[in-house]
Amino acid sequence: MYLQKRPRILRNNPAIRSMVAETFLKPGDFIAPLFIDEGENIVFEIPSMPGYYRRSIDGTIKEVKELWDLGIKSVLLFIKAPDDLKDNTGKEAWNPYGLMQRSIKAIKSAVPDMIVMTDVALDPYSSYGHDGIVKDGEIVNDETVEALVKMSLSHAAAGADFVAPSDMMDGRIGAIRHAFEENNFTKVGIMAYSAKYASCFYGPFRDALDSAPGFGDKKTYQMNYANRIEAVKEALADEEEGADIVMVKPAMAYLDVIREVKNSVRIPVSAYHVSGEYALIKAAAKMGWIDENKAILESLTSIRRAGADLIATYFAKDACKLLS
Ligand code: PBG
Repeated sequence: MYLQKRPRILRNNPAIRSMVAETFLKPGDFIAPLFIDEGENIVFEIPSMPGYYRRSIDGTIKEVKELWDLGIKSVLLFIKAPDDLKDNTGKEAWNPYGLMQRSIKAIKSAVPDMIVMTDVALDPYSSYGHDGIVKDGEIVNDETVEALVKMSLSHAAAGADFVAPSDMMDGRIGAIRHAFEENNFTKVGIMAYSAKYASCFYGPFRDALDSAPGFGDKKTYQMNYANRIEAVKEALADEEEGADIVMVKPAMAYLDVIREVKNSVRIPVSAYHVSGEYALIKAAAKMGWIDENKAILESLTSIRRAGADLIATYFAKDACKLLS
């Protein structure tokens, strides 16, 4: 057989394959999400996220030290608010002595170089389990943005390096940036969840924080998974409004969107490999149907290849161990 081209030459052995590999993972690519609870010595395994835990601040600090030693540079904080602090204003979200604010301070004082990112949305504090304020059965935009601004300022005051608004209200990035400028928080970044889809893959996360919506769904603010161009519109708007990093979420079912956004913006793109995507791999591995470690590396490499500069993933620690 005469062949002008033999592509298999570049796949012949491990040496040549690694020489021509296009995509690499490193610990600094990962953002580790952390679930934090009140109390002491609390280590609660989330039933739908086997191997992943919600911890009190003491245990969280130990975890952050371990993550830092593995080479992870950033954590993304989520807190579980007690039911009696939830209402329809979400005001606990900007309590200067709230769990989030205390967690930020504790982590920054224990591991000062760790980049602390904080979730900004009202759902953990909302009696309705929605990301915004509810009026007449609707999630109202502009009042919610005012609340998110107060929340962001309180995170910045506690020492957060980045706020990460995950609420999908219109205009919140510009409003938060403006408030940061007015209050002299000129070193605090914004990682915008720009293209966040209304996805069934958030189920286990809502178990972790007991934050499932009490009525309806999130489709009036989170995006329709049928849409790609809309993601570009949202990402460009957030870039324009002053976001430092834009995010696409979930990741695996949205690789095309990650690429489209990556080609459109001039700032780093992150992708959130979400709780349901974690649970899928864990469950199949437990059944003996896939090799967990291989699935982790293949999934994360695919997300990087699609164009994500950073990946928020519950596999951050496992991936670092596999890479070393
Ligand atoms: C809430 C929020 C959610 C996630 C991150 N921030 C859930 C939701 O929007 O209902 C999901 C993360 C995951 O599933 O891993 N604003």
